[in-house]
Amino acid sequence: MPKLANRMSSLGVEGAFIVLAKARELEREGKDVIHLEIGEPGYLPPRHVLEATKKAVDQGMTKYTPSAGIYELREAIADRVSSTRGVDVSAENVVVTVGAKMAIFASLVMLVDPGDEVVIPMPAYPAYESVARFAGGVVKPVLLREEKGFSPDVEDILSVVSEKTKAIVINTPGNPTGGIYKREDLEEIVKLAIEKDIVIISDEIYEDIIFDGKKHESILSVPGAEDVSIMISGFSKTWAMTGYRLGYVVAKKEFTEKITKIQINTTSCPAHFTQIAAIEALKGPWDEVKAMIEDYQYKRDLIYDEINKINGFTMIKPAGTFYAFPNIKKTGMSSEEMATKLLEEAGVALLPGTAFGDAGEGYLRISFAGPREDIVEGMKRIREFMSSISQ
Ligand SMILES: Cc1ncc(COP(=O)(O)O)c(C=O)c1O
Repeated sequence: MPKLANRMSSLGVEGAFIVLAKARELEREGKDVIHLEIGEPGYLPPRHVLEATKKAVDQGMTKYTPSAGIYELREAIADRVSSTRGVDVSAENVVVTVGAKMAIFASLVMLVDPGDEVVIPMPAYPAYESVARFAGGVVKPVLLREEKGFSPDVEDILSVVSEKTKAIVINTPGNPTGGIYKREDLEEIVKLAIEKDIVIISDEIYEDIIFDGKKHESILSVPGAEDVSIMISGFSKTWAMTGYRLGYVVAKKEFTEKITKIQINTTSCPAHFTQIAAIEALKGPWDEVKAMIEDYQYKRDLIYDEINKINGFTMIKPAGTFYAFPNIKKTGMSSEEMATKLLEEAGVALLPGTAFGDAGEGYLRISFAGPREDIVEGMKRIREFMSSISQ
């Protein structure tokens, strides 16, 4: 076996895939498992998106496209971002990427040199740390505190920023906590980034999945942010288009040109027919998207009511996303131990908070992206399991 590049030891794997593989193994052995581990909408994309996909395939839109994506989609994304953020961005500020994940990868690889520091409020989506380290970066974690609704304390961010800080990666609404950033915090972060020459990578892929009439606060709506930010979003969550593999970055031209260059050298471009479908997604109608978001809110409330009745479990209401992040510290079990027991003994697959960094110890991540019946059954199994072990 030839020796692999040292950087391979920095790449992590995602907890969701590990737990899913374990759950599938148990299912093959005949065990019934409720899946609350996967961060993937249980719905199909809206009908008009599916229709547009089929039509585009029939019309032969199955070839390469420009690396930054087709102009019409870049323009449609620029229009939506301009109107939702109250800014003025155009197609040249947009690169359509192969999933938001490629946008994360390209942004970090573009910015981070060996030894550069990357500040990440945690618990966080694991790709940020993994890719930052893959690029040779040093991760500086900042704790997202439950008592602050898992939104950051800017003082905590300030305390880890140094001369070597290259980027701050934020995610709002956030996976796994469901917390959102407040406008004042974003303003402070932009101020800091401008002063210290730091780039903010803002992953806003859950921007539409936000509850109780709250409004998504985007980094781009903060004056001055356009010079120091890379905003990431995509089609996987809002329109349930996970398998289309379509994300995007919105940033200044100096960044989008370089991100395009990374795409030229890796994936070449996203597929053509999926991009045509994405234009239709952006045009609407929005009724199916709205119905999905209402259903997420219903399931969020259901989980909230049920979790707080379970011995040793408490949780705050997530403001957005389709994840609950209950605190299990009072049970005395570690996250890993609890997640393993719930899978093996209660038949409920979910993730230990530690799948999102050490800061996730004492928590579990429960996805409510799937069917209502699964949430009801999953909560029942957890409640029964917890009462059986506390007798
Ligand atoms: C915070 C966050 N960013 C990015 C992604 C990746 O999205 P995509 O499917 O578009 O690659 C996910 C998917 O779970 C996510 O939770």
